[in-house]
This record gives sequence, C-alpha cells and structure tokens, in this order.
Amino acid sequence: MADSNGINGTNGLNKPVHTDTQSQGPRIGSESPLGEGSKGPHEKDPGSTHINPQLTTNQGRPVGDNQNSVTAGRRGPITLDDFNHFEKMAQFNRERTPERVVHAKGSGAHGHFLVTHDISQYTYAKLFSRIGNTCPMFARFSTVGGEKGSADTARDPRGFALKFYTEEGNWDMVGNNTPIFFVRDAIKFSDFIHTQKREPGSNLKSATMMWDFWSLSPESIHQVTILFSDRGIPDGYRHMHGYSSHTFSMINAKDELFYVKYHFQTNQGIKNLTAEQAELLAGADPDYSQRDLLHAIEKGDLPSWRLQIQVCPEADVDKFTFDPFDLTKIWPHKDFPLIDVGVFTLDRKPSNYHAEVEQAAFNPSNVLPGMGYSPDKMLQGRLLSYPDAHRYRIGTNYDLLPINAAKCNVANYNRDGSMRFDGNFGDLPNYEPNSFGGPKENPKYRDRPYKVPADNGTVTIARYDHRENNDDYTQCGNLWRLFPEDEKERTAKAIAQSLGQTPLRIQRLQLSHFKKADPDYAARILKHLGNNEHPEYLHAPDAAELVGAARLPEK
Ligand code: HEM
Repeated sequence: MADSNGINGTNGLNKPVHTDTQSQGPRIGSESPLGEGSKGPHEKDPGSTHINPQLTTNQGRPVGDNQNSVTAGRRGPITLDDFNHFEKMAQFNRERTPERVVHAKGSGAHGHFLVTHDISQYTYAKLFSRIGNTCPMFARFSTVGGEKGSADTARDPRGFALKFYTEEGNWDMVGNNTPIFFVRDAIKFSDFIHTQKREPGSNLKSATMMWDFWSLSPESIHQVTILFSDRGIPDGYRHMHGYSSHTFSMINAKDELFYVKYHFQTNQGIKNLTAEQAELLAGADPDYSQRDLLHAIEKGDLPSWRLQIQVCPEADVDKFTFDPFDLTKIWPHKDFPLIDVGVFTLDRKPSNYHAEVEQAAFNPSNVLPGMGYSPDKMLQGRLLSYPDAHRYRIGTNYDLLPINAAKCNVANYNRDGSMRFDGNFGDLPNYEPNSFGGPKENPKYRDRPYKVPADNGTVTIARYDHRENNDDYTQCGNLWRLFPEDEKERTAKAIAQSLGQTPLRIQRLQLSHFKKADPDYAARILKHLGNNEHPEYLHAPDAAELVGAARLPEK
C-alpha cells in the first residue's frame, strides 16, 4: 500500500501512481522545463520569480539576520524593534484568502485555443472570425462540495472553468462536466449547496440532508442519475467532457440571434473511477486529479478538448416540447447536432498555485461581442453571483490580478478601491459622459435586443433609451417661472458663479439647456456670467444666438 503521497508508485489498485519526483517537477527556484511561467518582468518586481540572493523585507530593505529575533539579552524577551519578525508573522497570519464557497478544491493549467472551423454564420465575435485564430487561455477544474483540502475523487460533479484571453476581452466559460444541473431556479442554489456541505450541528456530511432536498425537489432527478452513474466519479480531470450546461446565445453580423450550448469533448477519452477505487484513492492520494493533470503536462502528454456547439435559431425556440432554457434538460443531439468549432490544449503548469489558481476568478457574464446570454433563470442568477463572490473572496480589484486581467486594452471609469495596484488611470477623467476625450461607448457593440414570452405575447429585453419621448425641460421651466423676481436673480447668480469657472464650451452647452427651459432663465445667467471672470464670453459669436431673443447683458 502506498503512503499518503502515493510515493511508492502504487495505490493498491494496480494503477500507476505518479512518484514524488515525477509529479513535483522542478524544485522550488529551478527552471521549469515547460516554459517560463509567470515570471516578473524584472528582478525589482515584488514577488518576482527571479532569484535574488539578498533576502529583504517587504519594503526591500536587506535583512541581516533571519535566524535570531532581536531580544533584550540572550534569553529575551523579544523587543518591539524586530520589525522583520513581526512582518513575517503578520503576513503569515493573512496567507489564506477565503476558499471558494463552492468548487473550493481545484487544479489549473494554462493553454491555447485554436479555431478549427468557421462559425461566423452564428457570431461576429472576432475570436471566431477566421479558422486558425488562436488565443491564450486558462482552465480550472474542481470538485463542488468539498473544502479546499478535500479528496479529488469524491462522487461529485466536476467544475470545468475556462478563461479565454481574446483581443475583445475575456470570455469565461464556467461549466461543469455534466450537461445539466440539480435545480432550475437560482433562488434554490444556496439551499441545494447547503445539503452538499456539512450538517450544521454535527459538522458532518449528511446523506439525509441531500436526499431530503432532492426528494422535495424532483427537478434534480436527471442530474442525480448522472451523479450516481458510472460518470459520477471521473478519473482525474483529463478524461471528462465539459459543458456550458446553460443555453447562451450568439449574434451574427446580420444581427441574427442563435441560442447555443457549448460542449468540450475530451480527446483523452472518457475514464471513470469505480466507487471502490475512488474511496481508496481518497485515502492514498487525495490530490490524485491535481497530480494527474500536472504530471501529464510535465511529461508532454498535453490534454486537449474539442469545442463543439449546438445551435438553435431564435425563431425555433418555440418548437421545443420543453423549456429550452431549463438547466435540468439537455438538447437532444439528433435535433441539435454538434457543430465543430475548435480545440484547446493545456500546455503549461501554473508556476504559483495561489497567484494563478486560487486567485483565478471566472464569471459567466464575461462573454464577447457577438455572444450573449439567454432567459435561463439559473444563468441570470449566476451573472449576479460570481463577481459578487470574487469581490468578497479576492477583493474589489480582482480583475487587475494578472491571472484575471484582460490582455487587451481596458478603458473605463471604474476607479480606486483597496489594492488598486495599477496606475488607476492617472489623471484621466473618471466620469462619463465627459467632453475631455475619455473613452466612449460604440453603438456597434450594443446588446442585441431579444424577445421572451410574456403573459400577453412577448416582451423585448433591451436597453431602452430613457431620453426617448421624455421632456426634461418643461417642468424645470415651470419651476423657474414660479420663482419670484429676487429668487430668479439669486439662482441665476449662483449658477453663473459656478458655471463661470468652467471652459466656455461647457458654459455654452449648459446655457442652451437653460434656454430650452425658459429663455429668460438663460439670459439672466448670461448676464451674471458677463460680470464674472469671462467677459470675453459675451463677445463669443454665438452668445446672442444662444439666448435668442432674450436680452443680452450690457457690457
Ligand atoms: C444559480 C446557480 C449558481 C450559483 C449562484 C453559483 C455560484 C457560484 C459561486 C459563488 C462560486 C464561487 C466563485 C468564486 O469564489 O470564485 C461558484 C463556482 C463555480 N461554479 Fe457555480 N453557481 C451556480 C451554478 C453553477 C452551474 C450550473 C455551473 C456549471 C454549469 C457552475 C460552475 C461553477 C464552477 C466551475 C465554479 C468554479 C470556478 C473556478 O474554478 O473558479 N455553477 N459558483
């Protein structure tokens, strides 16, 4: 029988277990045979993987003694000036980020995606615009219910989370190894997951909780059947398919919408563990799947998956005999055959687990232009849940961490927050709209409206223009006209004092709004502006035009 690391090369199941030296690969600090990992760009980077022979504090001060605390006399006590000692302790106490509330135990690897077939008739996403397009990607596989230290061989669905770094932003496909799920409404997710975790009193796992919930939630029966079938315990992460499970959508250049399901077919073939094998491995090698994945990559046996899609044109969703957006249902392959798209290959181990795997944050709402969601209630719930979970688990600026950061230009007005470690967009404007040339929306990327059934016909999900058929001026003008003479003067003066401090183009535009509310309103402000610091404004060629027939202030 192997010891707990399986280092004897056997696991009692006549299955080879990777030995310590095989699976660990290069020792800490040595070069990886598989490439550079995520080396810092230069040796002065905090956390750089470049070996610096001089030990330093977090602030870079060279350390002279890392073996002995500073003490008052040979026997102690330790004195407060031992800053390095306290820094080490404090950092250590904060090493753990909260584990994921689900899918806590996982393994990741870097890779590449290659487009092998043309699906541009379904989507205008640049990634799929040409056969041969590639992008870097990252995958994280996981179990669902167990804690971060739990055994890899549990009978449990496997998470299948992929992040594709494209020139139009990150596409995250956060799926499972099953095409369906236990519940069909996101409001039931936390209740369901509680049954997969520990019983509140005893802190033990409880079959009663699980079956109590399932027996009261018959929509779970399809997924429960998969869970207890031969596919319930995959043999590592390489021998299983992945599924979006949810229905998403694609939009093509003609603005036509197609509903799609994503499938990732393993090129390694399906392999599962028996319940007995899984149980033994849980003791002999609880990190079995992690070891298997890393070992395969180390020895150049690179795992790969084919991406295929099932497609349903928007007009055909009414033809289903069941709700096509119900996550407890599959789309039959005979009605919706699999269409080839591409292949991804995992070719590089993470060089640091915490930085690249633990801090990886996947989010089903990360889709590309030319892709969209669907009315699936579970998906809608997930769009809300994931970024919220990341902000709690990793922090406000989790998007900036190298493993999560988009590899294309990011330009917006979100700012600040704890651990903002980039330049925070310097002194660029931090609001929109602005007239200082900041990034602007481009209507070509507007979400394509789509229809969903409603009580009386259909309702369109869209970004409705809040200005359409809206009058912003009449009520304001009415209020202005109600003001007594002296209040009109005071109001106009107060506005002029503030508005007068701004560039002329802003004054002009704002005056045009006041004029639409009431020409007298604009004229009075203009008069006070003339008394302010910008008398030249009064000579601007369009000043008279702006206030129209309203009287101009005297020079
Ligand atoms: C309403 C239903 C669901 C909710 C509210 C939900 C919520 C969550 C949350 C909060 C996490 C932890 C995220 C983190 O801390 O990084 C998570 C992880 C995950 N979920 Fe869900 N989930 C739902 C359903 C599903 C479904 C149906 C799938 C698969 C089709 C799925 C796949 C995953 C995967 C793969 C991860 C791990 C991602 C990673 O590797 O970091 N979840 N989920």
